[in-house]
Amino acid sequence: EKDGYASFMLKEIAEQPKAVADTLLGRIDGSGSLTLDEVRIPANVLREVDKVVIVACGTAFHAGLIAKYAIEHWTRIPCEVELASEFRYRDPILDQQTLVVAISQSGETMDTLMALRHAREQGAKVLAICNTNGSTIPRESDAVLYTHAGPEVAVASTKAFLTQLVACYLVALYLGQVRGTKWADEIRAVVRDLSSVSGAVDRVLRTMEPVRELARSLAAEDTVLFLGRHVGYPVALEGALKLKELAYMHAEGFAAGELKHGPIALIEDDLPVVVVVPSPRGRSVLHDKIVSNIQEIRARGARTIVIAEEGDETVVPYADHLIRIPATPTLLQPLVATVPLQVFACELATARGNEVDQPRNLAKSVTVE
Ligand code: F6R
Repeated sequence: EKDGYASFMLKEIAEQPKAVADTLLGRIDGSGSLTLDEVRIPANVLREVDKVVIVACGTAFHAGLIAKYAIEHWTRIPCEVELASEFRYRDPILDQQTLVVAISQSGETMDTLMALRHAREQGAKVLAICNTNGSTIPRESDAVLYTHAGPEVAVASTKAFLTQLVACYLVALYLGQVRGTKWADEIRAVVRDLSSVSGAVDRVLRTMEPVRELARSLAAEDTVLFLGRHVGYPVALEGALKLKELAYMHAEGFAAGELKHGPIALIEDDLPVVVVVPSPRGRSVLHDKIVSNIQEIRARGARTIVIAEEGDETVVPYADHLIRIPATPTLLQPLVATVPLQVFACELATARGNEVDQPRNLAKSVTVE
């Protein structure tokens, strides 16, 4: 039941701190090591893996795009991410040393299932990241890491996405741990940071009133653009997808570095553009680049909606609207940066009179190709 919330979507957004904590539960021991006993692929097989291929659809695909940054950074194993619907039809190169990760909330998405069947036929090992116990995708995989989001009823994926991210980070860190990388210290630090992420998500949720207000004020717009860099780029894609499916608006996500290669021509007076700003600590080059992107679009009339870390003052002069998120290590930032975009889409859709739990033309589980 909705527990007093106006929609399942709102309820599921609110459940995210718990979903994140539950997905970590029992998987990190006191010394900060990962114990993923469910991943029954032997350590020696994981040590031989020379390529990771992630297959998924929609929101789960966006989780995969973020996972690529973490996997390649922490393990130095090349990682490809592909839409499951494209994967099988292009004769992908796979062998026994390929680890295929299939991400699916429902565990029943036909495109993802077909992709994993194809991968196993080629001899690849398949690890499923799934939210539904005993569903088809985990049953047909070599191993499964369950996300513990609990049942997701609203068609638009929210809490499942955050837990998919957590599971992806766990897989990346686990691969690093099993293979022993030079990032061991960083891995220990990230494991600690992951443990505090649930609290950070909770803090974001407590500050969403201005985001709701902003969303309502944009109900009559036709288009909203989303920009990000690095892991902020898939977050931008996810923000745009949520707005399309719920508010039925034209929404697009771009890599901010691509602006000058075309999309900047779309910028006109008052066009709302959401920009996801990476932490100014850590990789500061990224941060500086995106600040100049914000300046560029603002100079061309865009109405800038800036999502930036608490304490980041450099963005203040260029933000028409500023949404603050807690400081988080760069690779983990999507866990907090996505939340305002979910709230934004949900509120905007409601303001337009749309039914958020059951958007038109969509089904929760897509069991046809
Ligand atoms: C978007 C959404 C869809 C699903 C996609 C994959 O909010 O819910 O894009 O993410 O259909 O579904 P699963 O994860 O069940 O394979």
